[in-house]
Amino acid sequence: MTETLLETPPADVTGAEVTETEAAEAAESAEAAEAFAGGFGAAITEAYSDALAEVYDDIYPSTPDLEDIGTYLLTLTDPGASVLELGVGTGRVAIPLADQGFDVHGVETSERMLARLAEKDPQGRVTPVHGNLTTLDLGRTFDVVLAPFNVLCCATTIDEQIAMMHAVARNVAADGHVVVETFDPSDYHVQKRNEMTTYPLGDRGTMIESVGVLPASQNMMLQNTLFLDGGVPQSATTVMRYLWPSELDLLGAIARLELVGRYSGWREQPFDGGDSRKMCVSVFRPLA
Ligand SMILES: C[S@@+](CC[C@H](N)C(=O)[O-])C[C@H]1O[C@@H](n2cnc3c(N)ncnc32)[C@H](O)[C@@H]1O
Repeated sequence: MTETLLETPPADVTGAEVTETEAAEAAESAEAAEAFAGGFGAAITEAYSDALAEVYDDIYPSTPDLEDIGTYLLTLTDPGASVLELGVGTGRVAIPLADQGFDVHGVETSERMLARLAEKDPQGRVTPVHGNLTTLDLGRTFDVVLAPFNVLCCATTIDEQIAMMHAVARNVAADGHVVVETFDPSDYHVQKRNEMTTYPLGDRGTMIESVGVLPASQNMMLQNTLFLDGGVPQSATTVMRYLWPSELDLLGAIARLELVGRYSGWREQPFDGGDSRKMCVSVFRPLA
């Protein structure tokens, strides 16, 4: 096979005419290479989020307690402060923050998620940024960089998570705060078989989510099957990597961020590592 490749140089090198199909294939592989360079996980997440964007708000509805996030941020910063939300999705968190007076920018890799955000926020109070968290550099800083709802776990490897934490550090003000929400992975870590959960999607149908875990690499495989509007079922798959709180501290140290607070909820509930809420809110400040 190698010989065949050597005997048949690429068409553009020899000057032979490049067909439309070849050009499209080349563009596609360049795009794939770029996605890979920015972290393979981002490419997987993008496809997964695109597939779920239409029903995301049915799966994870907005709840009044989302306002607790803004209320908590006001203990760290002033009203009107700039907030960069990582993985803004459909704006479930960002729109209430804008309602509370914050100047919110939201980064997202999925164009379909950003399209849903635009529908829900026609005045554009949340500034959308189409980008990849592993390579993000907005050339400016924010009073708060917020990584809610497990977004740092939307990566397949620790290398991608280190890259995300470096991006966080690049975009936070020297006197600013980084606020990261993750879940307690204890139950997943000992899970032996795939676990299934059903999400009702109103009168449109239902979604079944299957989660399998590889504890050695801390990866979770999510397979979601959507049964919508009586149509053919559609599946979307992603891979995540869960983080222990102690690992998060290490990621912070690598990116020169110091842990200054840890809670099991947005109301500063004490963190004891085994809380039934399964939440871990970690607060960092940049080291001088
Ligand atoms: C769990 S969802 C949370 C969305 C929103 N923050 C919320 O709470 O509803 C994570 C979001 O982060 C986005 N995301 C994950 N990895 C990303 C990456 N590397 N770059 C940009 N966005 C990413 C996903 O597309 C998804 O919309």
